[in-house]
Amino acid sequence: MSIPQTSAFKLRRPDDWHLHLRDGESMRAVLPFTSARFARAIVMPNLQPPVTTTELALAYRGRICSSLPRGSAFEPLMTLYLTDRTAPAEVDRARDSGRIFGFKLYPAGATTHSESGVTDVRRIDAVLERMSEARMVLQVHGEVTEAATDIFDREARFIDQVLAPLAQRHPRLRIVLEHITTAGAVNFVRAARPGLAATITPQHLLLDRNALFAGGIRPHHFCLPVLKTSADRAALVAAAVSGDARFFLGTDSAPHPRSAKEAACGCAGVFSAHAAIELYAEVFEAAGRLEALRGFASEFGADFYGLPRNTEEITLRREPWRVPETYPFGPDELVPLRAGETVAWRMAA
Ligand code: NCD
Ligand code: ZN
Repeated sequence: MSIPQTSAFKLRRPDDWHLHLRDGESMRAVLPFTSARFARAIVMPNLQPPVTTTELALAYRGRICSSLPRGSAFEPLMTLYLTDRTAPAEVDRARDSGRIFGFKLYPAGATTHSESGVTDVRRIDAVLERMSEARMVLQVHGEVTEAATDIFDREARFIDQVLAPLAQRHPRLRIVLEHITTAGAVNFVRAARPGLAATITPQHLLLDRNALFAGGIRPHHFCLPVLKTSADRAALVAAAVSGDARFFLGTDSAPHPRSAKEAACGCAGVFSAHAAIELYAEVFEAAGRLEALRGFASEFGADFYGLPRNTEEITLRREPWRVPETYPFGPDELVPLRAGETVAWRMAA
């Protein structure tokens, strides 16, 4: 018996709850991909130097808004980068700005541009307490950083050693565990106290760690936290399509110049903004749960952040298209996820 295939469907316009836009020419190269698809995005603060103050975030927001395609209503939701020296008063300034929606915790040394991150979360307890009072969201890169810890175990260790105790010490703090990668993280979020949620990227839903070594080393599949096992991937898909509002969309689209990825020490980050919602649609369709995309992509994140749901709609059509091998990226170029291969869905203009 053949199951009828949907050929097009409308979706409440989605939001991206974890995005790297970079700055300058790089930002101008990638921003149109996101603003065409998403109404809003939580913009990561890991620039160099990092976005550590309200003043820096508002200036960055201004540069993003003035780079938007004409007529775009896209809204960047800004975040601040926590350091050992972040002052609790910065939380009040951030909240009062009305433009800043969270603080990002990068354990120092965990990932791209995390050198200025937090060396020990105990050092920021006063800031976290102020965030609880101000109802500011803590966004967490959940990996321990000790070089001796196996890279595939760093998320699990972080949950046990850092995040679980932190969530207990700050029972009212709203926390998003970003880009989860393991079945263990799914179970942790499901069992957690209220006010704790997670984002999931397209690459962690589509690929497992074999994709890092398919026929040779594949630098464009390297991101942090690194891809995990096929069982982990299955658990992430099950969580994403389950309709559980604690799991929502965050692409972690993280552009890097091709020359920095295809190098002896290639940097971490997968670029997916060119086809983000289309790739998630593939995942939900393959799971037979296309109808669950609406909650995951367009509702649960807004609800968690206490923001209104979007009222506009986009249309996705089954119309396979070939992703370019590269996109321009300032003086360099960018290799997108699925480069040279096919994506099953296309967003109608
Ligand atoms: C991100 C980047 O390039 O900024 N890289 C990544 O692999 N995800 C940083 C991050 O989110 O860890
Ligand atoms: Zn990220």
